[in-house]
Amino acid sequence: METKLWSKGFEPDKMIEQFTVGRDRELDLRLARYDVEGSMAHIKMLASIGLLGREELPVLLDGLSEIAAVIERGEFEIEPDIEDVHSQIELMLTRRLGDIGKKIHSGRSRNDQVLVDLKLFMRDELKRVAGAVDKLFGRLQALSEEHKDKLMPGYTHLQVAMPSSFGLWFGAYAEALTDDMQMLAAAYRITNQNPLGSAAGYGSSFPLDRMMTTQLLGFDAPHYNVVAAQMSRGKTERAVAAAIGAIASTLGHMAMDVCMWMCQNFSFVSFPDELTTGSSIMPHKKNPDVFEIMRGKCNRLQSVPNELALLTANLPLGYNRDLQLMKDILFPAIDEMTDCLEMADFMLAHIIVKDNITDDARYDYLFTVEEVNRLVLSGVPFREAYRKVGEEVQNGTYRPVREVHHTHLGSAGNLATAEIAAKMAEVMKTFG
Ligand code: ARG
Repeated sequence: METKLWSKGFEPDKMIEQFTVGRDRELDLRLARYDVEGSMAHIKMLASIGLLGREELPVLLDGLSEIAAVIERGEFEIEPDIEDVHSQIELMLTRRLGDIGKKIHSGRSRNDQVLVDLKLFMRDELKRVAGAVDKLFGRLQALSEEHKDKLMPGYTHLQVAMPSSFGLWFGAYAEALTDDMQMLAAAYRITNQNPLGSAAGYGSSFPLDRMMTTQLLGFDAPHYNVVAAQMSRGKTERAVAAAIGAIASTLGHMAMDVCMWMCQNFSFVSFPDELTTGSSIMPHKKNPDVFEIMRGKCNRLQSVPNELALLTANLPLGYNRDLQLMKDILFPAIDEMTDCLEMADFMLAHIIVKDNITDDARYDYLFTVEEVNRLVLSGVPFREAYRKVGEEVQNGTYRPVREVHHTHLGSAGNLATAEIAAKMAEVMKTFG
């Protein structure tokens, strides 16, 4: 039996086959349901322009539905001699229905087929990432409110600077995530365009109704120009990776803070014993391995846009097989991102925040600016007040008043939690 869609009477060398198929048989499994969805839309369109008979369409749709059921049951696999999901599904269809199964590929190429699959896949994955970000966001906002009265040192140059608070700290990461979500939303809008009908990358002489498949597949619009549609492979993945990189940068930064705040020299936060890890030699250890792994993963995720950029740099216009390798990079990256987000949410649900941190004498100088400001409010010019408190610090007579009255928008006493929540709600609308 000929196992290749492109078979011309000879079978390729086994080594060549293995090398070129790579991890597709495994990775393509995640595209299977989308491949069926794309094919259903495509054949409905073919029927509408007379390229499939009236009686043929329902037979093919039934056949595809049966395959969809196999996929949903988790029983779908790509057979050893079959090179990708597109070939496997078409083969299953022809095995069930005979020659009529071979009709579904009119006006289409695996190049726009894989593009459609990836677009539909990434659309769902972006929703999944957005959901995980939103959940963590909610957790951070709740913690920010819960601990809003707990002061902590704020640092500049990693030197004690001014009073900060856990309300600010948790709330800062919540708001930072709203910016990252703007990038995720942009990636979603770039993703949600229909490449179907671009065929091998240059269209078809059939009068394909591309608006019909756009509507059937729920895309916002087509990629109109067929060459631009083909170019969207790579462009879309890079946009998704940039958004993931942005989220990873925020989350990695937070993971670093937690590692540091857990260090005994700070001891600002801790976790229940069962969420920490031990040492094989030092009996006392309770290590923050979760946040170290998270930091490492998030740092590595920020290299994904670069990896994709290098993989796709200066490719000739049109389809090139190199594009296949993007799946190897992007699929695990998306999973790793959602894993990290879910783990962060899980860990923060158990975080223990220390009280009265700033009462310690090592944080005395946190309050110098408060002192300066008090003098300013009593009429002393700022520069003079600054000099006076500076002299007290210098000659050892400075005594801190550990009171903080910050009231302006976004400060420790006015966290703007609702306003930040509104930003997130607005951007979340993108994801439907
Ligand atoms: N596995 C291929 C990919 O991901 C599918 C498209 C193959 N197209 C081709 N002309 N060989 O790119």
